[in-house]
Amino acid sequence: MPTTIIAGNWKMNTTRQEARALVEQMRDALDAVEGVTTLLCPPFVHLETVADLLRGTSVALGAQNMHPESSGAFTGEVSPDMLRGLCEYVILGHSERRELFGETDEFVNAKVRAALAAGLRPILCVGERLEQREGGEADAVVERQVGVGLEGVEDASALVVAYEPVWAIGTGRAATPDVAQSMMATIRGALAARFGADAAGEAPLLYGGSVNLGNVEEYARQPDVNGALVGGASLDAEAFTKIVQLAARHS
Ligand code: 13P
Repeated sequence: MPTTIIAGNWKMNTTRQEARALVEQMRDALDAVEGVTTLLCPPFVHLETVADLLRGTSVALGAQNMHPESSGAFTGEVSPDMLRGLCEYVILGHSERRELFGETDEFVNAKVRAALAAGLRPILCVGERLEQREGGEADAVVERQVGVGLEGVEDASALVVAYEPVWAIGTGRAATPDVAQSMMATIRGALAARFGADAAGEAPLLYGGSVNLGNVEEYARQPDVNGALVGGASLDAEAFTKIVQLAARHS
């Protein structure tokens, strides 16, 4: 069975003081939960602060993005070498990066390979837009994102995939558990075709898109959903702690 992972993607939120307060409010309760890997993904500038606050706890740390090159003239970017040793995970190919910053599957693939080469665990985000779902293309879109996103990757053991349908992100319109499960089965199949059934069966697949404490258990009950990537609700210490506790009941 894959590890259950509940990751909080803070996106472009929190000042340094707010970041510190948020971690202090939930750190002990998160540390006490067993059977779930809890992961916080604050903005780059807070990684070190949060790392210091999480030291000695079981709560893991992730970045929200990364450039594939290890160094060079890429103003404003952050490299794998900068993240190595600071955090363990990195979110790559989030739909906001794809939609707002023009990231292609090929660029995301370069990032995934660079993350793995640096010893980071990539959380490859995939998901269709509303018109693609309505046009019956959702599976094909996600299969392509997974296929191209993992081109040249030979070992799936560090990989995490998050299915985040674009229409469910920040909208309060979460995918039904059936829709999430069905897409996870598609993703698991795509992973099995590339890495074999055993490796595919071990890869944590997360659902993201309007996850909250009212619906997290529904996802956790699905056989191929191994956790959640939480946006808005991860900025509320009480709600996020509860989400992790509820997920732990099903891990
Ligand atoms: P919300 O939980 O706010 O819908 O965001 C989901 C997301 O994009 C997490 O990466």
